[in-house]
Amino acid sequence: MPRATLQSRNGAMSLPPRWRYDHRGLLFGDGIARFRDPAWASAPLPPFPGFVEQPTPQSPLPTPWTVRPAFTDHGGERIVRVEIAPGTSLYGTGEQAGALIRNGTRKVCWNTDAFGYHDKTRSLYQSHPWVLAVRPDGTAFGVICETTWRCELDLASSDTRAILFRCDGPSPAVTVIEGASPQEVVQRLSVLTGTMPMPPLWALGYQQCRWSYEPADRVRGLAREFRERRIPCDVIWLDIDYMERFRCFTFDPDKFPDPAGLNTDLHAMGFRTVWMIDPGLAADPEYAVYKEGKASGRFVRAKSHERVSSTISDEMAANWGLKWVEAPRDGGDEYYGRVWPGACAFPDFTKKSTRQWWAGLYRNYVATGIDGVWNDMNEPAVFDGPHKTMPTDNFHEADEELGGPGSHARYHNIYGMEMVRATREGIMAAKPDVRPFVLTRANFLGGHRYAATWTGDNQAEWRHLRWSIPMVLNLGLSGQPFSGPDIGGFGNPSTPEMFAVWMGVGALLPFARGHKIKDWDGKPMPDHEPWSFGPIVEETCRRALVRRYRLLPYLYTLFDEASRTGMPICRPAFFADPTDVRLRSVENAFLLGGDVLVVCGLDTLGDLDASPSPMPKGVWREFEIGERGVGAPKDGERDPWLPRMYLRHGAAIALGPAMLHTGEKPMDPITLLASPDDAGVARGTLYEDSGDGYGYTRGEYRRSAFEVKGDATTLVRDRGGVEIVTLA
Ligand code: NOJ
Repeated sequence: MPRATLQSRNGAMSLPPRWRYDHRGLLFGDGIARFRDPAWASAPLPPFPGFVEQPTPQSPLPTPWTVRPAFTDHGGERIVRVEIAPGTSLYGTGEQAGALIRNGTRKVCWNTDAFGYHDKTRSLYQSHPWVLAVRPDGTAFGVICETTWRCELDLASSDTRAILFRCDGPSPAVTVIEGASPQEVVQRLSVLTGTMPMPPLWALGYQQCRWSYEPADRVRGLAREFRERRIPCDVIWLDIDYMERFRCFTFDPDKFPDPAGLNTDLHAMGFRTVWMIDPGLAADPEYAVYKEGKASGRFVRAKSHERVSSTISDEMAANWGLKWVEAPRDGGDEYYGRVWPGACAFPDFTKKSTRQWWAGLYRNYVATGIDGVWNDMNEPAVFDGPHKTMPTDNFHEADEELGGPGSHARYHNIYGMEMVRATREGIMAAKPDVRPFVLTRANFLGGHRYAATWTGDNQAEWRHLRWSIPMVLNLGLSGQPFSGPDIGGFGNPSTPEMFAVWMGVGALLPFARGHKIKDWDGKPMPDHEPWSFGPIVEETCRRALVRRYRLLPYLYTLFDEASRTGMPICRPAFFADPTDVRLRSVENAFLLGGDVLVVCGLDTLGDLDASPSPMPKGVWREFEIGERGVGAPKDGERDPWLPRMYLRHGAAIALGPAMLHTGEKPMDPITLLASPDDAGVARGTLYEDSGDGYGYTRGEYRRSAFEVKGDATTLVRDRGGVEIVTLA
């Protein structure tokens, strides 16, 4: 029984709490058990939207079962305590800047528009009430605190031998996942939260964004320049200024008079386009989308109709200090908050009928040839709201599937997730034959089922460049495999060197997009395209992107693995050997899949004072990928700004030809790059399908496990050749 005291949110110390244990616990699948506060055992368990479906119990807990959460109430919060052994390394916790290892940190799950964030910022754009714990012996477990309410993940309490969750709202159920390794735990997490659907191949290409490329002819010019300079790129992004007075689903008649024509021209040059849609809809009776939404009662309401949940008794509600008010039957007042267009109303995405309405809005919109959608500001960000969002006593008419009508305090953290769920459904309905691509800023545990993400408004600073890696890794360890930073940093101007190094790192992360803020210091921000810093940086960017494009067969194979098993695409170095505690804090290197180790020189990351990180044990052979050549880099030929790449002993990976965009040519010939083991054999996997559409769900794909030995390979392909390059 722990004796530790607890520090409450305001810092006051108190007496040791009385902890309650669920002595029953129930098994919900291999290594997955769920616990509840016995004091709440009689209250029906609300559904947890993070799960793909609500799990059903299979059997009582097996013995021994070591991880047993303890529950208590303290200072108006429900607290969950999970004991950890000394030497346990903590990860996950979703999106947070700073070190890879999360021991000693605090994170508050409360989706926040966090412009200018840094490593002390407690709440970013997304919420993942989830911690992965890796024991000193390399076995692991994970804990999901099943709440959508504000929840603090306290890994820095004076009670350092525990993971603490401090939650608003009712007492959460807690799911514990056990595994022989962190890999096993992360895969089991995806049994509950689902996996990322396979994106279209083009979404793995390089993407160019700017707030904002305008007018339409500037976008055309940008596209031409990529092709003329022979810099690989698949996607051009349209930020908010394409809209008419920031009204979603409209196009500015002067700057973008013919969006379909623009999309056609860009498609002809081999580009896809992704356009932005925000949740805030201008509350202007002349604006058709708002008018329609108002007439059909689609918006979040302002009054504190605090019927917290139909499943909660008066006594429980009183215990949390919340007032109990019945939900109005006839609709209350719409809530208005200020965003880009001025006063806005916000669709209540917690209702299926509203999501269907929202989905329907995409039909004409994507008929203009739009390929993907960027949902931004969906925490939701509200400029004049408390803590830059809407008041917690706003009212959502949520369906029972999510837990029934309730306050914004309850649904805030899933607002963004429910929005992208609707967006995805809208694109799928409008274009049933292609795979949707949605990017979101706000999200919640499990939201990778609907959208990829980026790490929000970072800054052009060396520390932000360094944090890009652990942020992507911890998102991957929290179920979201498809993420990346704004390459070059969103705020502040980049230096040429920083831009080049960032492109080198970003080109090897799952989502690779350059993006830049509009103004800086009251002046327009200078250009930040790959060629904006002169020919030397341009050449580094080209080399970085040639690497990415030639790696696409391997990268696409990793996306297939992630979409089936939940394994992250970028993995921490300790995945090479979870028993090697030296690797637990390595964050300037990462694994791309299981076979490629990417090492970013500390000097190139602007961190000359830090000591170099250890390499995983075993033989890792360095390789370089050029437009034509592949193999061990020759001295003096390395680009000092680019990270080094190493291939695991015994592994072989498939590379494609250099190309300017994924649709330019087929992935032929395939080059197998092999690092033979002591017996002279290298093994790998190659996944191939048509790159878009749903044929792969009907068996139209090929997943080949292959071997390379000397000049021979077991990889069979119908067309194109296979060449073998062996690293000595
Ligand atoms: C905030 C987003 O984080 C940023 O990427 C975008 O450029 C601006 N909104 C403008 O839409």
